[in-house]
Amino acid sequence: MDARVNSPAYLALSGVGKTFGSGAGQTEALGEIELAVREGEFLAIVGPSGCGKSTLLQIAAGLAQATRGTVQFHGEEVTAPPPGIVYLFQQYGRSLFPWRTVLDNVAFAVEHLPGMSRAKARASSRLYLDMVGLGDFAGHYPAQLSGGMQQRVTIARALAAQPRVLLMDEPFSSVDALTRLELHALVQDLWRKHGFTAVLVTHDADEAIFLADRIAVLSARPARVVRMLETGLPRPRDRLETPLMPRYLELRHELLAMLLGKAP
Ligand SMILES: Nc1ncnc2c1ncn2[C@@H]1O[C@H](COP(=O)(O)OP(=O)(O)OP(=O)(O)O)[C@@H](O)[C@H]1O
Ligand SMILES: [Mg+2]
Repeated sequence: MDARVNSPAYLALSGVGKTFGSGAGQTEALGEIELAVREGEFLAIVGPSGCGKSTLLQIAAGLAQATRGTVQFHGEEVTAPPPGIVYLFQQYGRSLFPWRTVLDNVAFAVEHLPGMSRAKARASSRLYLDMVGLGDFAGHYPAQLSGGMQQRVTIARALAAQPRVLLMDEPFSSVDALTRLELHALVQDLWRKHGFTAVLVTHDADEAIFLADRIAVLSARPARVVRMLETGLPRPRDRLETPLMPRYLELRHELLAMLLGKAP
């Protein structure tokens, strides 16, 4: 595990349940979630389609309220989105402003930080665009970029906001398979460099194993955490070499068996 991981309960969900609606139309999305995210770790959350993953992440971010239980960030109860927690949505196309340039889309997240002038925000945004390899596209509009490039803009914007926790809801699911592999490497590098805490919701066993220190496996709806796997793979991980490691293959088998309902 990463040496930075030192706090046992940095972002903690205790007995969190969520029921939508009431009476006959009621949906129990989350059963009783117990989850303690450690400071600096990369945690993946996997579970079957519709089990409540997005609901769980939104509650952790303070974007939605739990019906039962509590969320704490740094020992403080979360009732609204706390500063320091940044949420990366799946629908990159919808989360960028089409009328703002790439640079101004990133600057938007930075302008609100304390002590930040517009000029400073733009300068800082340029650095983050360089980091995701889009320095030459600062003056372009989102529609002039490919899907993978737009997703890199949202990653630059999320990081430019200087998150202490980055929550990601299937952020790579709408890009092609090769771009996805590139984005995995990019996110791993940025996480290692910046030292934020990362929580990634995904359907993809390989993505979870490649990126995460720990993988929380959820049951079908109403979701509960049924397993917590420690990946224990050395870093930095390599997109070609790491998947050949015996530990990688063992984890992949175990995780897929659980997701396919074939675990012993
Ligand atoms: N705002 C809402 N109102 C009513 N029901 C909702 C709402 N949001 C989610 N649900 C229900 O809660 C359950 C869990 O939804 P959620 O989107 O959290 O699942 P998910 O695991 O993220 O799904 P997917 O794998 O498709 O992304 C679903 O049955 C869904 O219909
Ligand atoms: Mg979802």
